[in-house]
Amino acid sequence: MTRRELLQAMGLTAAGAFTPKELLTWDARESTSQDPGLPTPKGIDYKPLDRPIRVLIAGYGNRGGYYGSFQSQLKNEFQVVGVADPIDYKRANATRIHNLDPKNVVNTWEHLFDRPKFADAVLVSTPDHLHYGPAMAALNAGYDLILEKPIAQTWRECSDILAVARKKNAIVGVCHVLRYAPYFVQMKEVVRSGMIGDVVSIQHMEPIHYLHFAHSYVRGIWRNEKQSNPSLLAKSCHDLDILRWVIDAPCERVSSFGSLKYFRDEYAPKGAPTHCMDGCSIEDTCIYHAAQVYVHKKLWGWGHIETSNRTDQGILEALRKGQYGKCVFKNDNTVVDHQVVNMQFAGNVTAAFSMEAMTSYGGRKTRIMGTKGDIVGDERFLDVYDFENRKAIRWDVNQAFGNLDGHGGGDIRLCKDFCHAVARRDETILTSNLTESMESHLIGFQAEKSRNSGGQVQTVKMPR
Ligand SMILES: NC(=O)c1ccc[n+]([C@@H]2O[C@H](COP(=O)([O-])OP(=O)(O)OC[C@H]3O[C@@H](n4cnc5c(N)ncnc54)[C@H](O)[C@@H]3O)[C@@H](O)[C@H]2O)c1
Repeated sequence: MTRRELLQAMGLTAAGAFTPKELLTWDARESTSQDPGLPTPKGIDYKPLDRPIRVLIAGYGNRGGYYGSFQSQLKNEFQVVGVADPIDYKRANATRIHNLDPKNVVNTWEHLFDRPKFADAVLVSTPDHLHYGPAMAALNAGYDLILEKPIAQTWRECSDILAVARKKNAIVGVCHVLRYAPYFVQMKEVVRSGMIGDVVSIQHMEPIHYLHFAHSYVRGIWRNEKQSNPSLLAKSCHDLDILRWVIDAPCERVSSFGSLKYFRDEYAPKGAPTHCMDGCSIEDTCIYHAAQVYVHKKLWGWGHIETSNRTDQGILEALRKGQYGKCVFKNDNTVVDHQVVNMQFAGNVTAAFSMEAMTSYGGRKTRIMGTKGDIVGDERFLDVYDFENRKAIRWDVNQAFGNLDGHGGGDIRLCKDFCHAVARRDETILTSNLTESMESHLIGFQAEKSRNSGGQVQTVKMPR
């Protein structure tokens, strides 16, 4: 029986009862595909640059290498002229790909600053615990900065970076890349235009996917708070930032609950070894068995598994004793696998956010409730409903933009805007400047304080 038939059987379609159509899910409503009725976001007036912005990359890993790859698409805007990374094959790759002068290729970020400034900007894409050092050194040496999120590990460190950036009048772009992704840009524009009236509240969820979580936050470099950050900052600072950006009002109070429920020793199968390949008795059935996940069934990618031999054999060797070969229940992971955050924004706007590890799907889910309409989004479709005209518009980012790699197309757009901001010495070109990014980080730091104090409400107040 379909839902409509069920409603009919219950007599709910009779005159006088509420209209069943109102109860139907979005898919069942009559929506106008690619309706031109959504407001168009204002674009940047990109003027040709006299020369590309010369960038040094501190940390040529996944992110550093990916940003580096934009050089071919942003030929007249972005040029990599130096790299720091302790891993030999990464430095060799960078040198070859960007045709680097060997004297500009160094082992660790500190050596980029052994000599006077020799580029325009530094991209800090080192691991989370190594953001503060290179960011401060780069700013003090007079460079502009593209800074991977999270800005730093503590509010104190974030504030130091802001103080030096202001003193040096530096252009700083924080990689809150979702602000540049066409899907979120369109969402923001619908809200900004007033099409759904005033925002009343938002429900937002980040479903991480159980294998993604196991890879990055149980085995991977974001597993331990001390070595990186709480998962709310490491993963979901994007979400707090998007909420702050879309609501466009300061967050005043926050409370949070969450814990590491599942990926703990007590859930380990009886007799499980520390490394999956050391004769685990449930190899054939464990959904997290490393060799099965990464090699035999290829359920998850090899990013972050360090080995220069990137064949099945090389990866199996790396898993045998390495970090990514460890049992997910026998690790030194501390970060939470589920967390809820409630936020009160100025103007009586509320937002509820959930970060969830245990999902079979990704794609952020958002519901924005306004006084005149609402929005339902899943990082592909935006469904906008206008209460008064009883009109639904469905917008599909894939139809509008085609394939959007790298955080829904946000990565390359951030990079481009940064280069134009530096060339014109105009930080307003950036939507994720340091001051705005600090504000959403503060929500995260205070939410963590709340979670660690049993959910006590914390105030969020940006110092002037
Ligand atoms: N904006 C986003 O959406 C997003 C997405 C993923 C990761 N990140 C952030 O980007 C940063 C890098 O993440 P990643 O996935 O590229 O990690 P990664 O491990 O692939 O890259 C980090 C690189 O830094 C290098 N490194 C380590 N110590 C160094 C040192 N002393 N000097 C110079 N280089 C050093 C490592 O060898 C490695 O190549 C992290 O802070 C992460 O949280 C942001």
